[in-house]
Amino acid sequence: MSRRKLVVGNWKMNGMREHLDEVEAIGDLAAAHPAVEVGLCLPATLIMAGSQKRGAAFIGAQNCHMDMSGAYTGSLSAEMLAEAGATWVITGHSERREARGETNADIAAKALAAKAAGLKVILCVGESLDVRDAGDAEAVVSAQLLASLPEGAAADWLAVAYEPIWAIGTGRIPTMEAVETMHAALRAALATRIGAEADEMRILYGGSMNGANAAELLAIADVDGGLIGGASLTAEKFAPIIEAADARVTAAV
Ligand code: 13P
Repeated sequence: MSRRKLVVGNWKMNGMREHLDEVEAIGDLAAAHPAVEVGLCLPATLIMAGSQKRGAAFIGAQNCHMDMSGAYTGSLSAEMLAEAGATWVITGHSERREARGETNADIAAKALAAKAAGLKVILCVGESLDVRDAGDAEAVVSAQLLASLPEGAAADWLAVAYEPIWAIGTGRIPTMEAVETMHAALRAALATRIGAEADEMRILYGGSMNGANAAELLAIADVDGGLIGGASLTAEKFAPIIEAADARVTAAV
């Protein structure tokens, strides 16, 4: 088993042309830490320009449609995103599950569309605070993962991101024990579906990860990287997270 650390920024609805300098600086950080796979999921408007400036980082998108073309005003297909320069795409982010009403079935279909277009996928799952408080988080998130996992999911094209909804953008994170328990539960759930492949699949943590907490989170056995919002918007804030991931690789050797 060797799971290369994966550290991905999700810029959400942030980023104008003036921020391409940050993309370039983050690409340089990726080049300086080749043991870590570093990427940025940009707003679609920046994918083409960002992929010219990406250095050693990959560029991803934040969503795609489940069909390759058609009468879907305002939507973008996986093929379009790939042509623009994306090599990855996020599916199932809670901000889309909640606000756009995306179902587990939609998310699995989007992941398959992404695969068909040659994109790799970060599949997001996570619980609400009510679920966490009720003590059901592992069971609920495991079920969500299995319901949104596409057919043929494999570690060479799909990674999972565990993002507790209540930790996103709030500055709150679960206890390290809670993250460890959840990631172990998700890997066990994956194993029921994909067997030994589960050991190869990367499971990222997301939700208020930053330079101050990354080292501790990334030290957890089943945490294979991070999906980072706010702290990925500048190279200055993102650097310590990439460095913490690299330090784990070095520690493991
Ligand atoms: P923050 O890092 O801003 O909490 O966002 C996490 C997230 O939603 C990444 O997809």
